[in-house]
Amino acid sequence: MHSDTILVTGAGGQLGTELVLALRKIYKTVIASDLKDGTPELKEGGDFVRLDVLYKNGLADFVKRFNINQIYHLAAILSATGEKNPEFAWRVNMKGLRNVLDVCAENGVKKLFFPSTIAVFGPTTPKVNTPQYTVMEPNTIYGISKQAGERWCDWYFQKRGLDVRSLRYPGLISYKTKAGGGTTDYAVDIFFEAAEKKKYECFLKHDTVLPMMYMPDAIRGTIEMMETPAEKITVRSGYNFAGCSFAPQDVAAEIKKIIPDFSISYKPDFRQSIAESWPQSIDDAVAQKDWGWKPEFDLSKMTKDMLANVSAIAHV
Ligand code: NAD
Ligand code: SER
Repeated sequence: MHSDTILVTGAGGQLGTELVLALRKIYKTVIASDLKDGTPELKEGGDFVRLDVLYKNGLADFVKRFNINQIYHLAAILSATGEKNPEFAWRVNMKGLRNVLDVCAENGVKKLFFPSTIAVFGPTTPKVNTPQYTVMEPNTIYGISKQAGERWCDWYFQKRGLDVRSLRYPGLISYKTKAGGGTTDYAVDIFFEAAEKKKYECFLKHDTVLPMMYMPDAIRGTIEMMETPAEKITVRSGYNFAGCSFAPQDVAAEIKKIIPDFSISYKPDFRQSIAESWPQSIDDAVAQKDWGWKPEFDLSKMTKDMLANVSAIAHV
């Protein structure tokens, strides 16, 4: 077991809930933190504390007191919630990250993980096989804050020597914690509704293709990237990171293979224009080359696993 002491911010969310459990298998001390209460699994398996990333002094005291030497800074406001409250999203995503970066640099934290997103791209970005380096003109507050965040991360690496690493996650699909206010949330909700009601009303159009990733791939990729020797990490802004790409009609067709009477209807809302501003598929050749990234789950394999797991939850 590694002896580093890790702090995870925003650990009670969709990603953190599972990432903390995976980190606890390889690190002796992983402290989960959030504004809200953690799941029983998070609290029973190790320390869980209330920490607000907007209060720098509280964060700094905690890091000093517990000799934290790695931070996974997950706390953020996602795309759909961010468009409803831009000021708030900017503050949490920007001020929160700046606080964490400063606390790391001022207190000898040696490694930082910053989750970026496909939302750093915008309508002028090439949509298919979006390259690592390309036009980036995000048009959501979430995307703007994450792109600025990537630049700050790179700056702290270049100017302060902080070992910052980042992945541009696609939409994450999981069953342990519900999705937290994003545009890709339909790809989580559809499985729960399919298992419970055999029907789903989708807030995106049938043919809206987006990059997605099943949580086990996301967790494994994150840990693999963070464990890679520093000299192999050539991207300090955010690595393109691909799983599989599909549209609502594709996932509905896969679900119908298992639940034949499942039906889907479409009622696009404000999230449609956000989705249309994002890539459809991602070229992650740099991640493949630098640290050997390879996803395991395609749409079909993920659908089988998701349905088995959400059905088990629905029938408890
Ligand atoms: P989530 O919304 O489920 O969880 C975020 C957590 O941050 C919540 O538990 C929330 O309580 C917490 N939080 C908010 N403000 C805080 C504050 N001031 N101090 C402390 N905690 C605070 O989000 P998630 O899906 O788990 O995403 C985690 C990270 O991954 C985010 O940075 C997100 O931008 C990024 N990401 C997620 C996805 C996805 O599809 N889930 C895709 C790309 C990137
Ligand atoms: N899944 C996220 C969202 O939809 C993308 O970062 O906001």
